[in-house]
Amino acid sequence: MTGVETEHKGWLGRSVKRKEDARFIVGRGNYIEDIKLPNMLHMAILRSPFAHAKINSIDTSAAAELPGVVAVVTGELLAEHKLAWMPTLSGDTQAVLATDKVRMQGQEVACVIAEDPYIAHDALELIDVDYEPLPVVISPQAALEPNAPLIRDDKEDQTDNKVYHWEAGDAEATEKAFAEADKVVRLVTHYPRCHPAPLECCGCVADVDPATGKVTIYMTSQAPHAHRTVFALVTGLPEQNIQIISPDIGGGFGNKVPIYPGYVVATAASLLLGRPVKWIEDRSGNLISTGFARDFYMDGELALKEDGTMTGLRVKMLSDQGYSYADAQPSKFKAGLFHIVTGSYDIPAAHVVTEGAYTNKAPGGVAYRCSFRVTEASFFIERLVQTAAYELGVDPAELRRKNFIPADKFPYTSATGFEYDSGNYEPALDQALERVGYQELREEQKRAREEGRLIGIGLASFTEVVGAGPSRQYDILGIKMFDSAELRVHPTGKAILKLGVKSQGQGHETTFAQIVAHELGIPPEDVTVQEGDTDNTPYGLGTYASRSTPVAGAATSVAARKIRDKAKKLAAHMLEAAEDDLEWETGKFFVKGAPDRAKTIQEIAFAAYTDHPQGMEAGLEAVNYYDPPNMTYPFGTYAVVVEVDRGTGQWDVKKVVAVDDCGTRINPMIVEGQIMGGLTEGYGTAAMQLITFDEEGNCIGSNFTDYLLPTAWETPSFELGETTTPSPHHPIGAKGVGESATVGSPAAYVNAVVDALAHAGVRNIEMPMTPDKVWTALQEAGLAE
Ligand code: CDP
Repeated sequence: MTGVETEHKGWLGRSVKRKEDARFIVGRGNYIEDIKLPNMLHMAILRSPFAHAKINSIDTSAAAELPGVVAVVTGELLAEHKLAWMPTLSGDTQAVLATDKVRMQGQEVACVIAEDPYIAHDALELIDVDYEPLPVVISPQAALEPNAPLIRDDKEDQTDNKVYHWEAGDAEATEKAFAEADKVVRLVTHYPRCHPAPLECCGCVADVDPATGKVTIYMTSQAPHAHRTVFALVTGLPEQNIQIISPDIGGGFGNKVPIYPGYVVATAASLLLGRPVKWIEDRSGNLISTGFARDFYMDGELALKEDGTMTGLRVKMLSDQGYSYADAQPSKFKAGLFHIVTGSYDIPAAHVVTEGAYTNKAPGGVAYRCSFRVTEASFFIERLVQTAAYELGVDPAELRRKNFIPADKFPYTSATGFEYDSGNYEPALDQALERVGYQELREEQKRAREEGRLIGIGLASFTEVVGAGPSRQYDILGIKMFDSAELRVHPTGKAILKLGVKSQGQGHETTFAQIVAHELGIPPEDVTVQEGDTDNTPYGLGTYASRSTPVAGAATSVAARKIRDKAKKLAAHMLEAAEDDLEWETGKFFVKGAPDRAKTIQEIAFAAYTDHPQGMEAGLEAVNYYDPPNMTYPFGTYAVVVEVDRGTGQWDVKKVVAVDDCGTRINPMIVEGQIMGGLTEGYGTAAMQLITFDEEGNCIGSNFTDYLLPTAWETPSFELGETTTPSPHHPIGAKGVGESATVGSPAAYVNAVVDALAHAGVRNIEMPMTPDKVWTALQEAGLAE
């Protein structure tokens, strides 16, 4: 690997305005709904009102007779083509359309294809399904009871509701640490189910050309290449005949990684009918049936010495997977990367036991604004450390500092097997404490308490693991998690960069062009970035889990450096100098000691097509499939100040300081946007968002009146800080950042509310911390007014 360039110079570290926004702000984005093909049909999905029920019969005759209806598709019809079930990206199966029974409310039961979307929706009401309700399992604990109803009776070897059992770390060493501990602190908590709720719901236009057999699917996909391969494997269609095009995507947040039944039925329908079929999901369909996030029940203990040194960690985690294990985890890691739960701390022994259970809910557990299950891990360790600080009676900031992995111990191998590439945690903590005014706040808190006011200061010092991943360990359904870049410089010195990843709003068209500019000196406005079209971009695993910059960003650097190597040969030819006598300065080669004898990259590009030396291939282009040697480990410390109203349980955020370290920042403005988005989502989770279910399995949270997303009105303002610890193995030292704010901030908010109540012994409030919950805690603590 070429050396790391850590200095922020040239095109790195520059807040270049987002190139893509020019089309978005004038309403010229191109989303699925904008795609209109001649002769196009429209599809609507009938969903189950029951969470668990046997299907006795489905009568579609009345619907089929409605004028304008072209076809009604049921599971039975799909079964004839072996398409009633499909594989999930975690190696499980999921029903495309229900045949035997429904296993969650909102499950897809039948689809109507009609001349217009209104007729399709009207026809749904004419379908008569005879359901026979079955007992419902709505918690993973109930799912694992000995006599629990069997949810996946379709699977031959499945005799209970267990999905997986997976362990990491060293049980024996951890036992020993606990046996020798001076103090053991326990936390039992639940990170509740929430939903990524992207602004644009899912959808597709499937267009199978009856003349050529070419299948073009316009689709809200965060991973178009992997989806193409899965489509080929499931349908048996030749992969070269399948083109997936992900146009502009209105937010993904992990929700657009799984393959949903709507995509499959629309494609099958187009194949059978010989006409394009469009499916646009509605909001309730999105909220009740597509990839949810979180839903981890965690029970863990921290072993400590008298002086506060952490010596061991053990955690048991039970995950509510819904009725199918469909969250696209790397196949080796059943609970994602939850075993990063040792966080930022030098804990010598750790043991993590994870289990997943089927329930009658939507599948999910997607990497929602975090790398695979890292938010849950980070939340848990930060809540546990805060609890330990209260129980030991020590300052939570100092307990963290004392146990941080020291800066000189990097690269650091954690007790659960991660090799942290780089880190320097104290400066981030110090900066957060300083900016929030920690010492003064502690004084103010004391004074406020004397006056009967409850102020709390919460902290979270998280470490993420992103950039999946090294192919020796990371794959999805066996496809290794590399990513790719293909860079072509045109004769006039303009370039096109094609990537295997796919932005859903992260600003790739700008930041990846900046990487090219940094490497070659071609300004970002001269570099077109193309993503999302499988016929016209190199194969890659897509964008989720903050992997784009660590993997495709690195591929871009390497491809550009290959071009620079060829450009050097061309420059030597043009300048009639030896290659060894040439030096590079961003954008040009010049002869050492004679800076006037120079050729710019634009001049060199022209020569590559007009004056290349005999024996050299014409053109200036390169491809790289990048297999990262390691993950990257961004980190940071967040500090949050709240005041809790003793009369109502309402809590107001007084201040939020977020200090993030994602190594070299390519575009600080975009990074800040990512962090602010994450902080907003973290606040939403802590304060208001919750998807819950009644005992019949009805989803409470199926619309935005029940499922409360924070708007600009509720969202607190944030103060951002940064430190810069480059990743040593990344060509430009960048770590991913996409999600870190969602990882750290929920814990910081809960810790702040708990801290406000801590002098009365309140140690655990579950999210979302709605005023009624806080009010109950206040009452129990004798603090309510
Ligand atoms: O995979 P995803 O794009 O969601 O996440 P990411 O790689 O963490 O990047 C999110 C956005 O922030 C992209 O536009 C990146 O290029 C940008 N970024 C940056 O400018 N500097 C970094 N060190 C990391 C990300």
